[in-house]
Amino acid sequence: MTRAYNFSAGPAALPEPVLLQVREELLEWQDERASVMEVSHRGKAFVACAARAEADLRELMAIPDDYHVLFLQGGATTLSALLALNLARPDQVADVVLTGHWGEKALDNIAPSVKANVAASGKGQGYTGIPDRAGWALTPGAAFVHYTPNETIHGVEFHDIPDTGGVPLVADISSNVLSRPIDVSRFGVLYGGAQKNLGPSGLAIAIIRKDLLGQHGRNLPPIFELQNQARNDSMFNTPPTFAWYVLGLVLEWLKAQGGAVAMGERNRRKAENLYAAIDGSGGFYRNQVQAGARSWMNVPFFLPDEDREKAFLAEAQAAGLVGLKGHRALGGMRASIYNAMPEAGVQALVDFMGDFARRHG
Ligand SMILES: Cc1ncc(COP(=O)(O)O)c(C=O)c1O
Repeated sequence: MTRAYNFSAGPAALPEPVLLQVREELLEWQDERASVMEVSHRGKAFVACAARAEADLRELMAIPDDYHVLFLQGGATTLSALLALNLARPDQVADVVLTGHWGEKALDNIAPSVKANVAASGKGQGYTGIPDRAGWALTPGAAFVHYTPNETIHGVEFHDIPDTGGVPLVADISSNVLSRPIDVSRFGVLYGGAQKNLGPSGLAIAIIRKDLLGQHGRNLPPIFELQNQARNDSMFNTPPTFAWYVLGLVLEWLKAQGGAVAMGERNRRKAENLYAAIDGSGGFYRNQVQAGARSWMNVPFFLPDEDREKAFLAEAQAAGLVGLKGHRALGGMRASIYNAMPEAGVQALVDFMGDFARRHG
């Protein structure tokens, strides 16, 4: 086995016990005498597996009963477009708060369907922090406010929930779902792709306050109508069954780890360890994000020049630390330290960084 510590931003590392279980039962799942990939989503076994995953997600996130939990295809990007169509009439305003690349992408997909208003943007500061709350131009009576609690590329994370004065808050939690406890009741919608903290790609989740659906006054194709998925337990058409099954195993693993509270404590320690290594390197490593907005999940950092960044990546790879290349929009390095990254993996990276800086500083 040459498995490395995988710092990929997504698709990202999965808990090893989950992968081992998948391997163990890949050919014959439960009593089906077939793979989970080969059985009907409407069969008893899969329906039970799907329901268990929903129940576990509800338990882990303490999701109130007046919220739907949907498991959908199309990733976070499709959902951002579908949510705009489902949550607002065409003449309604949707406010958008931009703190990085993914907020911009969401805006692109929201804007064709509503009157989109950029209420605040950190773009002028190169997305290195959260725009001053006092300056947010929120629209009273807007259909919703969209934001990205954790910006995966820029490494900017909200450490609180913004106050929108009663306007439903729609949050793309693709890259920090279940990384710590969160008060779901403060949101209209929480949604995200599974491929970072929850499971394989191909599956997205949406947690939607029930009263928000069905108010859009549009003639939508039935498959775009989220109420149809809600009424059919996310099986209005064929769901990504394998991804759903793996997500269920990840949730069981999370429960065994102690749930969101335990993950939050672990993730805080991991992030503190890594940022301390960056800040304590005498300027050899740099992270550009304001202290109060640094992400616990995605840590971008830069070396003094490109030559040393190239050497860093090559040597890290050889040392069993992979997936560290920064996003092309930003360059540099990025360590994604999601739930499945053990503290020992972060410590291995920190040790490597210290050693590299001594040799190349
Ligand atoms: C915060 C965030 N939103 C959206 C996306 C896009 O998700 P998808 O590829 O599932 O559409 C990503 C990354 O892939 C992300 O990190």
